[in-house]
Amino acid sequence: MSKTLLQINASLFSNAGVSSVLANEFVANWKQRNSQATVISRDFAVEPVPHLTAEAFQAFLAKPAERTASQLAEAAYSDALIAELKQADVIVLGVPMYNYDIPSTLKAYFDHIARAGVTFNYSANGPVGQLTGKKAYVFASRGGLYAGHPQDTQTAYLKNFLGLLGITDIEFVYAEGLAISPESKQTSLEQARAAVARLNAPVAESVTA
Ligand SMILES: Cc1cc2nc3c(=O)[nH]c(=O)nc-3n(C[C@H](O)[C@H](O)[C@H](O)COP(=O)(O)O)c2cc1C
Repeated sequence: MSKTLLQINASLFSNAGVSSVLANEFVANWKQRNSQATVISRDFAVEPVPHLTAEAFQAFLAKPAERTASQLAEAAYSDALIAELKQADVIVLGVPMYNYDIPSTLKAYFDHIARAGVTFNYSANGPVGQLTGKKAYVFASRGGLYAGHPQDTQTAYLKNFLGLLGITDIEFVYAEGLAISPESKQTSLEQARAAVARLNAPVAESVTA
């Protein structure tokens, strides 16, 4: 069966963002190796997900048969985002660091796909994610240096959130120190590009399959 890849770029700068450049490079290489695959792309700089509202959240909680017309529209929007996520075998996120965290557009998207009874269930042992068996790649770009330090709350947050949905197989590629100096930026981009190439090497595929 052919695979589906869902790519989400969250940079303000659309395809010019460093995180987008890396994610796009990964996806272009991946497509070459998976020529029959379906690729779904979302660019939040072009088409942002709106902030979650009380009305939308109440629509998620309401029984389908009891939803008002506007609640049906809110639920249908979220259902469509979830359907493409469910369809995806591979999820690629381009994630800049803005003000110490993920872009607010990505958070707004997460608020629309975290649905009790749909993407996760509550149990006596805590939430159980329903979107298992997927592989996620995160291409993270930062002006400073955070990876491996407690200040990198972004990585922990993404692991927590994706884990809530049942997505636990996550590969992170960092382009850091982009604002420190031109040399630092160049070295970091070269290292990140090398990591992208390694992820796309045939051996990586057999290890992660
Ligand atoms: C609004 C804004 C806020 C930023 N905040 C941070 C920050 O808190 N820490 C940091 O290391 N870099 C920060 N930066 C630098 C970005 O992380 C860096 O430029 C990165 O390349 C952004 O990813 P992008 O090019 O994919 O948009 C910020 C940049 C912008 C535009």
